[in-house]
Amino acid sequence: MTDLKPARVLAIETSCDETAAAVLENGRALLSSVVASQMEIHARYGGVFPEVASRQHVLSITPVVEQALSQAHLTLNDIDVMAVTQGPGLAGSLVVGMNMAKGLALGSRKPLVGANHLEGHIYSGWIYNAGESIPPEPQFPLMVLLVSGGHTELNLMTDHLTYKRLGSTQDDAAGEAFDKVARLLELPYPGGPSIQKISEEGDPHRFNFPRSWMDGTYNFSFSGLKTSVLYEVQDMKKKGKTTLPIADMAASFQQAVIDVLFKKTIQAAREYGAKEILVAGGVSANRALRQTFKAQTEFPVHIPPLSLCTDNAAMIAAAAYYRFAYGQVSDLGLDVRPTWPLS
Ligand code: KG4
Ligand code: ZN
Repeated sequence: MTDLKPARVLAIETSCDETAAAVLENGRALLSSVVASQMEIHARYGGVFPEVASRQHVLSITPVVEQALSQAHLTLNDIDVMAVTQGPGLAGSLVVGMNMAKGLALGSRKPLVGANHLEGHIYSGWIYNAGESIPPEPQFPLMVLLVSGGHTELNLMTDHLTYKRLGSTQDDAAGEAFDKVARLLELPYPGGPSIQKISEEGDPHRFNFPRSWMDGTYNFSFSGLKTSVLYEVQDMKKKGKTTLPIADMAASFQQAVIDVLFKKTIQAAREYGAKEILVAGGVSANRALRQTFKAQTEFPVHIPPLSLCTDNAAMIAAAAYYRFAYGQVSDLGLDVRPTWPLS
């Protein structure tokens, strides 16, 4: 990496319900990362309310950017490149970050790089806190399991910025399944952390929920599993059960998701001769999933620290840095990134 041009990137991320800004050096060393979460506001609605999200971004964006700079002990003059999430995401949310980044870039005459949110999640695997010991970089060919609220994919990364998509979900994303099952078990929003928490008191083997293997492909499907949980709930209610074994149901559901994600990733890593595995995206914050991947010894596994699994701007800075360092962006003005290189 030493031959890549050094750059300090200030990134902004407003694709969904987190207003975030971060400063990152040379694609890996994190100087600051600020995330203003709207979780409590959206919890009232049981999910993200797009208009409310957009308004909150407008309120939070300036203080969040200022905080990111001040925590890094820098001013805008010390920044080389501005970056912003260009998509995918909620249009009304993205535009707030985009306008802020454009304003800052134009005002300070810095290049502006539009980053892809999914590529951001992947590049969260390269980040470490500045001043701490430098962890090894993920090695190519790298098998990447991307598991977020909107996406579940297996990608083979053969080099920086180079992906071969092996498969993706045919219906619900893994995070979406966590959120929907949480709702039907009447657990609070956001669903993933709620299911994780209650699962710790449950028996993951009590219910044998179906695993959709999608044999012969690296695709995924989670809607059948979700429906099974729903039928189980309906069945118990019909039989007059007043207190449902929520913890056992949540734990058994979580186990079914992890089994599929884990086995398919290992199988793909073997088939494609991957050297290492990277797991990224919001669902990679799941403790049981992390333990499952870390416990196997065949492949070195990279999973970002918890603060970088869910949405943040550090990952956007990292993805933007590699695009910039490999000369894949224009020098001034907004470079148009494809919605996702693989779709
Ligand atoms: O990456 P992310 O923050 O946003 C998207 O780009 O979608 O992912 C959010 C998803 C949500 O579905 C959330 O329920 C899930 O990640 N999630 C989790 C956990 N923390 C967040 N799922 C399972 N266990 C968790 N601990
Ligand atoms: Zn995300």
